[in-house]
Amino acid sequence: MPDQPRKATVILATAIATPVLLLILGYAALVEGMIPANADAKPPVVERWIAKRALNAAIDRGIQGLSDPLPVNDSTLTRGVRLYGTHCAACHGTSDGEPSPIAKGLYQPPPQFAKHDVTDDSIAETYWKITHGIRLTGMPSYAQTLSPEQRWAIATFLRHQGELPAHADEAWKALPSSAVRSED
Ligand code: HEC
Repeated sequence: MPDQPRKATVILATAIATPVLLLILGYAALVEGMIPANADAKPPVVERWIAKRALNAAIDRGIQGLSDPLPVNDSTLTRGVRLYGTHCAACHGTSDGEPSPIAKGLYQPPPQFAKHDVTDDSIAETYWKITHGIRLTGMPSYAQTLSPEQRWAIATFLRHQGELPAHADEAWKALPSSAVRSED
């Protein structure tokens, strides 16, 4: 065979064989239990980077045209705090920032908002996360559990967590700690 066609045949064979080989290796790793499925590990940097990129892109698309319908006042914020206490504190903690047993065991770990708040995110972004949840993490979707108004109230509280008016601040500090302090 002349040189040029032989070269083309080798390139073509490599182009077909490489993905097939990768698929076979990937399948072998999967069925042999070599792909980690445990939750008691720290998420690797690459996994976190890919997940964050995908999430941010989905949110950018999802929040177009969304705007917060509730007034930002003590009553909305107090309502948001109370709903947060019932639906979110088990994973995201209360004002002492101590993680609950559930929070300690989750993969990905849920941020404890007393220490790592989301006041930098827009209300619409947090509303999106509450509504749709975050796939392949413990973050649930509340689309079927809470009304849109309740979801907006919680998102408004999280946006203003660092600057709460009197009643809302009192309600936030009064939420019982999610951490278990002693064994029965
Ligand atoms: C069963 C545990 C669990 C519950 C309950 C839960 N979350 Fe989450 N949440 C998570 C986890 C885990 C993550 C981290 C996901 C990730 O790393 O991408 C998360 C992420 C978030 C984020 C994004 C944080 C950031 O830094 O970008 C927000 C906002 C949030 N949750 C709000 C809420 C609200 C509000 C509620 C209640 C309505 C709630 N979550 C209930 C587990 C939970």
